[in-house]
Amino acid sequence: MNILVIGSGGREHTIVWKLAQSKSVKRIYCAPGNAGIAELAECLPVKTDDLEGLLEVARAKKIDCTLVGPELPLSLGIVDLFEQHHYPIFGPQRRAAELESSKVFAKQVMGECDVPTAHFQVCEDYFKALSYIKSQSFPLVIKADGLAAGKGVIIVENQKEAEDALSQIMKEKRFGEAGRSVVVEEFLSGEEVSLLAISDGQHIQSLISSQDHKKIGDGDRGLNTGGMGAYSPVPFFSEEQQGFVLNRVFRPIINYMEKEDRVFKGVLYAGLILTSEGPKVLEFNARFGDPETQAMLPALKTDLMEIAEATIGGHLNKIKLSWHEQSTVCVVLSSQGYPGTYRQGEVITGLDNLKDRDDVMVFHASTEKAEKNIISAGGRVLGVTAWSDSLQGAIDKAYQAAQTIKFANKYYRKDIGQKGLSFTGI
Ligand SMILES: Nc1ncnc2c1ncn2[C@@H]1O[C@H](COP(=O)(O)OP(=O)(O)O)[C@@H](O)[C@H]1O
Ligand SMILES: [Mg+2]
Repeated sequence: MNILVIGSGGREHTIVWKLAQSKSVKRIYCAPGNAGIAELAECLPVKTDDLEGLLEVARAKKIDCTLVGPELPLSLGIVDLFEQHHYPIFGPQRRAAELESSKVFAKQVMGECDVPTAHFQVCEDYFKALSYIKSQSFPLVIKADGLAAGKGVIIVENQKEAEDALSQIMKEKRFGEAGRSVVVEEFLSGEEVSLLAISDGQHIQSLISSQDHKKIGDGDRGLNTGGMGAYSPVPFFSEEQQGFVLNRVFRPIINYMEKEDRVFKGVLYAGLILTSEGPKVLEFNARFGDPETQAMLPALKTDLMEIAEATIGGHLNKIKLSWHEQSTVCVVLSSQGYPGTYRQGEVITGLDNLKDRDDVMVFHASTEKAEKNIISAGGRVLGVTAWSDSLQGAIDKAYQAAQTIKFANKYYRKDIGQKGLSFTGI
């Protein structure tokens, strides 16, 4: 089969790497890809929001199946377009992807399905939001409705901060149309865990748990980023809790979406917070997470292409997912200064020494080829991923490997996976 993967980050490198191990996959194309992906796939310079351009690739390269990495093309309706032209594609249609692209919609669906989540109020205008906030106690969480590249959620401690946040989102339109409505919700505390499920619209299979590290600094300090590392599975997320999320979150949501004529096919990602009252949903994404994918897929034994085909074909119940008994850790190497300003174009060395390892894989997040060199091309540059039969072993291996990769202004968190150790008391 000829496969097209859409996207250019570490998540897409992981997906391409996994697909390359599938017997049924003959050729892989990636749009637009990066220097790491280029070692496994033919990269094509088509942007992820250029739906017509991507459709043209499907035609020209006789693509049998397409997998979509990021949220933007899903929210623009790439699945609808490809299906209209009879190109099989893995991912939800636009109206189903609204579970991610509209936080208002997601909260309303959670309300309908009685999914455990923070108490909330949807506010379509600034004054309504202000008057609602006056009736609540702080802290509160204010969320822009639409896609805001991970920046649309603001935690406010008092009236003044709430006014500022609402003013930025709703009056100054910092996130454009994404801020036309907001969700104001109760602040919850607890550990955050990601649990993803795959659905063919009816059947559901949940994947293994993982935990992201969103803040730039050790101990979860500083600014939010796209994710500085992840590990999987999460030792303190029990099988019982996983079952609870399957029954109280994934099943009712998938059933409801089918009933509403918004059949959800693809990956449904639940961002969870483990509160004293049990797991609650913070948000949904309609795709694989980044960097959670880098920490999850190396443990997957089942052929990813088979899973994609069963999802598209509606027979996911025929597939049994199996996993290696291992822990996996992904440490993101970024450019110093990220998520603010940073230098790029730095030459990266040390990658070749890791190529023969069967317990370490370096997934490229943003790299380019410049003559004979591989150079950094963004804030998050690489995801050094290692696996072992213990979490401590995987942490040690990932950090040893991370030290052998060199580029100017390299920065990484030193505590990826530590919460997994401390919560089990190991
Ligand atoms: N109700 C809440 N209580 C406490 N923290 C929250 C709440 N909602 C969101 N957060 C924090 O904000 C982060 C981002 O929120 P999320 O809903 O996941 O939106 P996005 O990923 O689109 O920015 C979460 O990972 C969590 O740390
Ligand atoms: Mg999130």
